Amino acid sequence: ESKYRRFAPIDLPNRQWPAKVIEHPPIWMSTDLRDGNQALIDPMSVETKLTFFKALVNMGFKEIEVGFPSASQTDYDFVRRLIDEGHIPADVTIEVLTQARKELIDRTVESLQGVHRAIVHMYNPTAPDFREIVYRTDKAGVKAMAEQGTRWVQEAVQRFPDTEWVYQYSPEVFSGTELDFAKEVVDAVSAIWQPTPAHKMIINLPATVEMATPNVYADQIEWMHRHIDRRESIIISVHPHNDRGTAVAAAELAVMAGADRVEGCLFGNGERTGNVDLVTLALNLYTQGIHPGLDFSQIDQVRQLVEQCNKIPVHPRHPYAGELVFTAFSGSHQDAIKKGFAARQADDMWNVPYLPIDPMDLGRSYESVVRVNSQSGKGGIAFLLAQEYGLDIPRRLQIEFSRIVQRHTETTGKEANSQVIFELFEQEYLAD
Ligand code: KIV
Ligand code: ZN
Repeated sequence: ESKYRRFAPIDLPNRQWPAKVIEHPPIWMSTDLRDGNQALIDPMSVETKLTFFKALVNMGFKEIEVGFPSASQTDYDFVRRLIDEGHIPADVTIEVLTQARKELIDRTVESLQGVHRAIVHMYNPTAPDFREIVYRTDKAGVKAMAEQGTRWVQEAVQRFPDTEWVYQYSPEVFSGTELDFAKEVVDAVSAIWQPTPAHKMIINLPATVEMATPNVYADQIEWMHRHIDRRESIIISVHPHNDRGTAVAAAELAVMAGADRVEGCLFGNGERTGNVDLVTLALNLYTQGIHPGLDFSQIDQVRQLVEQCNKIPVHPRHPYAGELVFTAFSGSHQDAIKKGFAARQADDMWNVPYLPIDPMDLGRSYESVVRVNSQSGKGGIAFLLAQEYGLDIPRRLQIEFSRIVQRHTETTGKEANSQVIFELFEQEYLAD
């Protein structure tokens, strides 16, 4: 049983129906080692990828895109290392990306020789500007490319019958492709692959570039969900990028609109403004009482590891994971938090003001929740003395002592940690 309440107000004025909420987690796919890696200033080495891969497995990812082996020797070597050294658990499937060219598809499939199960992910352009400007072709040209590529994948995987093959197709810049044409292409692809409910294929519908408000992407996904052929044999996947800063909302709305699976990166790494942030998505679900099936109970460790591998810092205000996101400096917030903690019973639903999640659930301490600077008040100071030193000081003394602390922080211009506060208290009241 979760201590978090699903927030779905049903009694808004003039509203007779409940707000739509996500009822269960999507299938998660981490593309940290592919889309994330391809956007790094210094791409990861095989060794770094291996460290990251093991961490993703420990977090609970069952599908991990590990690279683009036909485009990068490092990625090819990494795939071989994963397979040859037995790093892939039986319940984890690796995925690799390829373009729709025969020699690239052959080399991609060859890189996977000996793996128990793999997803071959082929993409080709379908959006008008990509068709016309980048590839100098037309609708028929890109559709033929998708069909021919699918046949090449089919032929290539037949050479390795001991592997369980899953096929994933992405029409590139789905978010900018005419919907009826996107349907025509993915229907043609699935007609060739012939998935079944027991052996589904994945149709991934990327917002390669985020082009509109998130409800528009969700409408595009819903339309595909309602109209594509062989829906019962297809996993609809979304792959939102964050160009407008709304990838998380786009993914959540897309799942409500019928998507089964979400591709993204930890802390929103990825091309340009990044892929959708899987940490935020997963913990948004968690705080609605739905276990996401991913383990972020040691979020600081996850953050440090990702920062080391990507060589990119996570913003201190990043949802759930940033250094400052459970910290209150202002007096009124500190006071409310202190009262929330004091009122809490062990088996209560989580209901501490200003804290959408219990920091303990992410392996973070309560100490960082309340930090004291010149904007802080008596509540925060009393909270720290009680929490860290077991000192329960009466209200009148709290008011008096908070003035002393405030004078100190105004003079230094710095924050005062619990040790400094205790020393001030000692000097003032406990010294002989
Ligand atoms: O953003 C994108 O379109 C991609 C594809 C390769 C799926 O990363
Ligand atoms: Zn992408």
